[in-house]
Amino acid sequence: MSLRTPGALRRFLVTGGAGFIGSHVVEQLLRGGAERVVAIDDFNDYYDPRRKWENLASSITHPAFRLQVADIRDRDRLRQLAREERFDCVVHLAARAGVRPSLVDARLYQDVNMGGTLNLLELAREQECKSFVFASSSSVYGPVAVPPFREDAALMPISPYAATKAAGELMAHSYSHLYGMRIVCLRFFTVYGERQRPDLAIHKFANSILARRPIPVFGDGSTLRDYTYIGDILQGIGGAMRYTVEGGTPFEVVNLGESECISLSRLISALEEAIGERATIDRQPEQPGDLPLTHANIEKARRLFGYAPETPIETGIGRFVEWLRRRNTAAVAA
Ligand SMILES: NC(=O)c1ccc[n+]([C@@H]2O[C@H](COP(=O)([O-])OP(=O)(O)OC[C@H]3O[C@@H](n4cnc5c(N)ncnc54)[C@H](O)[C@@H]3O)[C@@H](O)[C@H]2O)c1
Repeated sequence: MSLRTPGALRRFLVTGGAGFIGSHVVEQLLRGGAERVVAIDDFNDYYDPRRKWENLASSITHPAFRLQVADIRDRDRLRQLAREERFDCVVHLAARAGVRPSLVDARLYQDVNMGGTLNLLELAREQECKSFVFASSSSVYGPVAVPPFREDAALMPISPYAATKAAGELMAHSYSHLYGMRIVCLRFFTVYGERQRPDLAIHKFANSILARRPIPVFGDGSTLRDYTYIGDILQGIGGAMRYTVEGGTPFEVVNLGESECISLSRLISALEEAIGERATIDRQPEQPGDLPLTHANIEKARRLFGYAPETPIETGIGRFVEWLRRRNTAAVAA
């Protein structure tokens, strides 16, 4: 895995830096020789915060790294941080992620994902930051978009989570227009790989198969997802950063997927193959808010920043399962 950044960007703020995607971004920025990498994370208990500390294990003692345990809703803390540090680039990944929990506590999603995003845009504006990359989501498209989804399709979110991501994009556009900020909103399509969030299907399924427990499958297994390997997401994030400093339009929304539609049944087969065990399926009704299909058209990412995903599902699942076995063994030993 690697994240190729432009030379003009040396000092980074990564929000959600202890999370699945954020911790990889932090690690790769440090490996790439960044002058300063500051991660903000509130270590909330959406999933076990100890996992977030584990995610940062390889970065935490790096001399260029600073961890700020803080909530992005806390404007005073952000202002204080902005007085202490200068950033060339903000990678804004902190969010309440997850579709189903957003139906239970929509207000929390609004406060963190919309209010928090506004706070980060404000911070970047005040610092005259050169580059802002925002984590949006394939969920903004909704169930009526024609696959493969193109960025110019009408947005029809069907969950509070998806609506907050769409709102984040709109606010980012306003800031770019008003203040000349260079912003790329990346619509991630179901990201998986080492350190994946434990609430996501691949992770839950793998742990259940390893423990020979039945796996809950919502619907009939025909749902289709464009699963994207974390290494390819990092490639896309680096591409977006380069795009913000190398010219082009000041604001873009860009899909990041593999552009391959995988059925739930094929995903489960790939997990069975990698683990070497058969899965027992526990059928459950379809869940409100879930999309039946996601499929990314990635022409724009290719054109704007040469994005070329390279990890087929079987390869990525193999790497994920290898990591999961190592991680579970270490957790038992600890
Ligand atoms: N993983 C995916 O498949 C996927 C798909 C589409 C979009 N995204 C988006 O990518 C981003 C990263 O997702 P992830 O899968 O790494 O999730 P994650 O939950 O592992 O990471 C998000 C991090 O943000 C932190 N955070 C949440 N609220 C915060 C707050 N108020 N203040 C400070 N920190 C806070 C969390 O503690 C967590 O460490 C999110 O914005 C998510 O919506 C992810």
